[in-house]
Parts: sequence; structure tokens; C-alpha cells
Amino acid sequence: MTAPSPPSTASHAEQLLLRGQAAAPPGPVDVAGMYLMHHAFRRDLDLFTAATAATPIEDRECWTRLNRRWRLFSSTLHKHHRGEDSGLWPLLLERARGGEPATVLAAMSAEHQHIDPLLHACGSEFTALARTGDAQVRRDLAGHIAELRDLLQAHLAHEEHDAMALVQAHLTQHDWERLDKEHFALDPASKATVKPSLGRVRQCGGSGAGPAHPGPCRSARAAGRRWPRPVRCRCRNRRRSWPHAVHR
Ligand SMILES: [Fe+2]
Repeated sequence: MTAPSPPSTASHAEQLLLRGQAAAPPGPVDVAGMYLMHHAFRRDLDLFTAATAATPIEDRECWTRLNRRWRLFSSTLHKHHRGEDSGLWPLLLERARGGEPATVLAAMSAEHQHIDPLLHACGSEFTALARTGDAQVRRDLAGHIAELRDLLQAHLAHEEHDAMALVQAHLTQHDWERLDKEHFALDPASKATVKPSLGRVRQCGGSGAGPAHPGPCRSARAAGRRWPRPVRCRCRNRRRSWPHAVHR
């Protein structure tokens, strides 16, 4: 990959803007898959937070399910970050060439490194709670999840504002699809449970940047057009994984 392919300015893709998403910079590349993954990470971390507070300490079976679900969440987030660090940021660095973009991309990798130890700490605490009811471990877990949630929210917002603007300025749809295949392919378990169920995801406000807000919403089912199969609603799985945190 030597010669930069200038992105077309003639066609701008419609950008997905989901609840909680910080930005959707305009441009020619359809990055819906990235925004769907971010949506799933935010959603699951909210559910883990609620479940950690609400699950009875003696409910071994539920902590075991939470532990299993955490492993899937953690490995999927880790793979997502690895794909960015090994594929997306290096290509952007090559295309954008120094200055402010280099600062943004260095910050992206540094933020990933701050997130990893917290994923690991929470994983150990979920494993401990699956084996024995220890109220102190649950308090430690609640603290680590809150810390992780703050860090991840800030990181995703930074990425949506600044790194996705670089994608739109320097990459083409063809680059994006190649990166998707080479660096972001999900295994079936992650695909089935971590991606949001598209029928339930709402797109707010249409294309373009601006604060995401609940408002006149339309189904984002169309965003699933690039997935080989539509993702089915997993409400029953959600209730199984988080019986004390999901009430509907
Ligand atoms: Fe990302």
C-alpha cells in the first residue's frame, strides 16, 4: 500500500448515529460497523454495571453466567482494539502523515493500554464471584467497572470525534472493507451476542455530526445490510445473562 487513494468528495455515505454515540463525522466511508460495535460495548458495560449492583452475592449460577459473558465481552473488546492498533491506526498514520493526526492516533493507542488492565481486573473479580460470595470482591468489581466505564466512554467519544474524522479524510470505502476483513473479523459467538440486535437499535437524527440524542428515531436495520445475516433479537439471551439487570 504505497500511493494514497484520495477519498471521493462527490459521494458522502449516510452515517449511522446511535444513542450514546458522540459524533459521526461526514465523509465517503460507511463506518456503520464501527459504530454498532461501540454501541454494543456501551450497552453491555451499562448492563454489567447494573448486574454487579443487583445480583445477589449468593447467586453462584448467575455470577457464573456473568463471568462467562464478561470473557466474551472482554475478548471482543480486546480484539477490536488490536484490529485498530495493528491495522487501522498504522494505515491512517501512513496516509495522514504527521502533525495533529499523529497525536490523535498516538492517543488512541495509549487509551487502549489504559483500558486493558481494568478488563483483566474485572475478569479476575467475576471469576472469584462465580466461585465464592465475597462482598469485598463485589465492591472492588463495582469500582473497577465504574472506572472502566468512564475510560471507555471517553475513549469511544474521542475516537468517534477525531479518529473517524481522519478515516473520512484519508481512507476510501475499499480501504475500509479490506481492513474489516483483515483485522476486524468476529467469531460467530461474538457476532451473535455482542453486536446489538439491529431491530432494537435506533438511529437518531439521520446523517452528519451533532450530539446523539433520543429523538425522532428510525430503525437502523438498514445498517445491517453489510452483515452476511441479519442479527436476531437476543432478548432472551440478555435476560439469561443478566436476570437481575434486565427486566423486560
Ligand atoms: Fe473502535
